[in-house]
Amino acid sequence: MFTSKKVIILNINKIIFSSLDIRDVYQTMSNELLKVIDFDRLSVTLISEDNNLYENFVLSKDYEDTALKEGVLYPMEGSLMKRVVQFREPVIVGDTSEGRFLTDAVLFKEGIRSRLGFPLEYKGKVIGSVNFGIKQKDYYSKKHIHFFSQIAPQLALAIENTRLFSKIKEAEKKYRDIIESSPDIIFECTNEGEFLLMSPAVEKITGYPADQFYRNRGYGLSLCHSDDQERVQNEILLLLHGLRGILLDLEFRVIHKEGMIVWLSIEALPIKEGNTIVGIEGFCREITERKKLEELKNHLIRDVTHELKTPVAKIEMAVDMFERSLKTGSAGVPERGAQVQEILRNNIGRLKNSMKNILEISRLESGMEPLKVSNVSLNEVVKQVVSEMTGAATGKGNVVVNGMPSDFPTIRADREKIYQLLVHLIDNAIKFTEQGKICISAMVLPDALEVTIGDTGRGLEEESKKRVFEKFYKETPSAYGSGIGLAICKNIVQIHKGRIWVESKGKGMGSQFIFTLPLQRTVS
Ligand SMILES: Nc1ncnc2c1ncn2[C@@H]1O[C@H](COP(=O)(O)OP(=O)(O)OP(=O)(O)O)[C@@H](O)[C@H]1O
Ligand SMILES: [Mg+2]
Repeated sequence: MFTSKKVIILNINKIIFSSLDIRDVYQTMSNELLKVIDFDRLSVTLISEDNNLYENFVLSKDYEDTALKEGVLYPMEGSLMKRVVQFREPVIVGDTSEGRFLTDAVLFKEGIRSRLGFPLEYKGKVIGSVNFGIKQKDYYSKKHIHFFSQIAPQLALAIENTRLFSKIKEAEKKYRDIIESSPDIIFECTNEGEFLLMSPAVEKITGYPADQFYRNRGYGLSLCHSDDQERVQNEILLLLHGLRGILLDLEFRVIHKEGMIVWLSIEALPIKEGNTIVGIEGFCREITERKKLEELKNHLIRDVTHELKTPVAKIEMAVDMFERSLKTGSAGVPERGAQVQEILRNNIGRLKNSMKNILEISRLESGMEPLKVSNVSLNEVVKQVVSEMTGAATGKGNVVVNGMPSDFPTIRADREKIYQLLVHLIDNAIKFTEQGKICISAMVLPDALEVTIGDTGRGLEEESKKRVFEKFYKETPSAYGSGIGLAICKNIVQIHKGRIWVESKGKGMGSQFIFTLPLQRTVS
């Protein structure tokens, strides 16, 4: 007993430097202390930051169960701990059967008769206590206190270190978790282009694993789209040379492993060591979707204005003509008036058609309009459209044949939308056919209805077949029409969970526009 204090302190120092795992430290500590102080039970308590609670770590005991559990926070009030903290002095309980602390009764039941609680101080503050318990009554004395007081500061230091370390580890884990789960690419990179950190999101966004970036200096920049590389490099250099404090929302493209273009937006800051900039850190967010939408919006505005320009110019021209004829006195000439009227009517019609179609496609694309589903007889709708459009067809020398089978099943669909679909398709068939035949036929497939609007007209080449369902696509850009009709058709069919496509053997060979609609009873 009370042998080499120096050896113990040395060993405790070893503990401090050999392991920062709280369990390891406590275990070694307990083994070391057992060499010099007798006890049947050893525990360390640590006080919570607000000083009201304490946590109990039972380090060793030679009996099975204890009421004072680990990982539970106990109130300070009434405990030996409170006394130790209050007076910053060791406390001895000679006999737990007569003890004044709440824990005495608990430990008495577990066979512990005497106790010694010793404050653990770190930087002048009590952080907890070391508590010895033994089955013998009146065991601990001033000798123990004296001996232990020489070891206690080292112990307190070891405990505080492990406590700090586990706090750091916790904080580091949180930081890691954020980086690992972030949908953005979080990175750190030296001014030599070497990556110190590259979050796993990079693989999802670029197709290349983070590993590849760690192994290859400058890898990030090499993925940059060639048109953006110089711009990005210059901006980063400005940061590295301290000529810019922060890089905000710089948008650029990278080439995905599979070859697609991915748009990123980067935000970065310089990493400083003292006054020297040693690298940059920041994150890249994927903005491909936003870019695509922007592009779509820009195209839409360009196409819509382009589409509206032609009829407006023609209306302007007609008005000019009319003004000129007023000056020359020819306004009253019937042919001139009719000519102006014809141009105006035609182009106002064209404008109205474009506006109606643009509104319709935006409504459909917004997906905000619910379908008004009912039992729809395609026979009945086709009959209505054919009767409404035969006049226009006959005017161009076309025959319209309603070849729908008479016993065609009804489907659950939005009647108004199906009506529009047929109007657009039959209107096209009439528009692109002269002196020919337009035939509407249909058949029942195992789980769908298939309807064909065939014509003997102009037909379509391969390239046009691929593009006719695109918004604003027209084979002849100057032709009457907005180029949106088929985009509307595609949307209508798709929201009914069907398919639409075109078949044509080529120019002058007629076309067949075919769509299917599912036969299931409900369409949501
Ligand atoms: N039956 C058809 N035969 C040949 N070409 C067609 C036929 N239907 C469509 N096309 C081609 O596809 C293009 C796009 O058709 P779409 O219905 O979308 O537009 P549009 O008829 O020109 O204008 P609108 O928006 O007024 O319908 C047409 O301009 C035409 O070039
Ligand atoms: Mg059309």
